[in-house]
Amino acid sequence: MASALETTDVKGIAKYIKSGKCKKISLMLGAGVSTAAGIPDFRSPGTGLYANLARLNLPYPEAVFEINFFRNNPVPFYTLAHELYPGKFRPTLTHAFIRLLSEHSLLRMCFTQNIDTLERRAGVPADKIIEAHGSFATQRCIKCRTPFDDAKMKEMVLKFSEDKVVPRCEKKGCRGLVKPDIVFFGEALPPEFSQSPKIIQRETDLLIVIGTSLTVHPFASLALLCPDECPRALINIDLVGDFGSRDDDVVLLGKCDEVIEELCEELGWKEELMKLWEET
Ligand code: APR
Repeated sequence: MASALETTDVKGIAKYIKSGKCKKISLMLGAGVSTAAGIPDFRSPGTGLYANLARLNLPYPEAVFEINFFRNNPVPFYTLAHELYPGKFRPTLTHAFIRLLSEHSLLRMCFTQNIDTLERRAGVPADKIIEAHGSFATQRCIKCRTPFDDAKMKEMVLKFSEDKVVPRCEKKGCRGLVKPDIVFFGEALPPEFSQSPKIIQRETDLLIVIGTSLTVHPFASLALLCPDECPRALINIDLVGDFGSRDDDVVLLGKCDEVIEELCEELGWKEELMKLWEET
């Protein structure tokens, strides 16, 4: 089957993007995109979050993001939230590249698993982002669903290390636990995720998967939905998912910021990229 790509490397991707045939690029992001911002990913051996939660005395690492565990004991989550809360981290070069794709009117959708809101912070338009696992941007009571004030939440999370006070619903007679709108294990993905398969199957000319182990479904299965005529590129430290199973898969192993810099060099976008990144 003739591929849209002449070569399955950075040059081939750059040529396809510059060809005018590649009009709609969709991205799938994971925590590996934000490690350069200082936010640990989840599963990298040694440095990943799940390898460093001993201080929280969890039955197993993922419990920190499980809704039933949170209901009984919200302290481990809020201890972690205090460390990860948006505001002290800066978008990376890779986040700036996503904004650059949008500036070139080439971004169809950025599907992200990340909860750090760095895509928004980088200036990617909100209608071009689907935060499949939610984010820290908003929060609500897990009992009555009443939204909780943003400023008050930020203040309580930032002070949590001292006073260990967990935010609770202020609706009269409720006092339910407040949780950021992050999708915990055991919770449904946000309604906007339901449009994802259609976007990849019918409205994407190139899928780029960056910084994810592709281990959590249904998000990971989006990578399997690319039609044959839509090339896929993986930018990741290690080979993941079913990448390499298609003749025209482009597997670019390495640190995403370095690979993105090389791709922008090939595209003649290096200066624009650095300028955008400096602005974030
Ligand atoms: N450049 C490229 N790849 C990187 C980099 C980097 N700088 N840093 C880490 N990686 C790679 C790792 O090698 C790994 O393959 O990114 C991937 C990160 O995988 P995970 O830690 O599993 O993170 P992610 O795939 O986002 O996890 C998915 O799991 O716990 C849930 O809801 C949580 O959204 C999260 C989901």
